[in-house]
Amino acid sequence: MFITFEGIDYSGKTTQAKMLIRRLRQMEMPVVYVREPGGTKISEAIRDILLDHRNREMHAHTELLLYMAARSQIVQEIIKPAIQAGKVVVCDRYIDSSVAYQGYGRGIDLEWVHRLNDFATEHLKPDITFLLDLSPERAAERRQRKARRQDRMESEALEFYSNIRKGYRKLAEDEPRRVMILDAELPRDQIHQQIWEMIKPGLSQR
Ligand SMILES: Nc1ncnc2c1ncn2[C@@H]1O[C@H](COP(=O)(O)OP(=O)(O)OP(=O)(O)O)[C@@H](O)[C@H]1O
Ligand SMILES: [Mg+2]
Repeated sequence: MFITFEGIDYSGKTTQAKMLIRRLRQMEMPVVYVREPGGTKISEAIRDILLDHRNREMHAHTELLLYMAARSQIVQEIIKPAIQAGKVVVCDRYIDSSVAYQGYGRGIDLEWVHRLNDFATEHLKPDITFLLDLSPERAAERRQRKARRQDRMESEALEFYSNIRKGYRKLAEDEPRRVMILDAELPRDQIHQQIWEMIKPGLSQR
């Protein structure tokens, strides 16, 4: 089973991914948790380039291709072998992030983003994707509360995030069987419970 988490920055992806992992491990399910961009030596090196503030001059196409390069490596090195070994793979961000951020956020032709996703992943799609839907304003509040230093991507304007959110919602509309929208403002335990209810039937079939 291949599960991904999506949503704008601070929507609670990592929080939910970790809660899910903990629960799966309690059941002694073999699980692999990875995050994008990153997860392999090569992909982590690409991540550093992508998030580095000094790389302000990065062109949107370069950004897209770097995300795809990092993705290709993690798919080949980690995700595919883990799925083949019968493990549950939980990935914090995946193909939909590129559609939302580089497609809807940066305005790159969606056709290209989809084609490059297919190339980078050899058409490997998640069985289920949880989209944590949050307004950019709420996300900014959470960020201020944490007072963490922003990375290159996070320092974009609210409008950028508003376009990304729209993109994510469109994705959920286009692929309602795979992409599940969740209200990211709910208490975290409640969101976790909703996720668990959707995952459970798939697990018992294995
Ligand atoms: N349901 C929730 N309600 C309120 N706050 C939450 C909820 N879930 C997570 N948070 C808080 O919001 C912040 C962001 O959460 P988290 O790091 O899980 O988001 P993320 O989507 O992984 O962000 P990023 O894209 O930056 O990695 C954290 O401070 C977290 O404690
Ligand atoms: Mg995170």
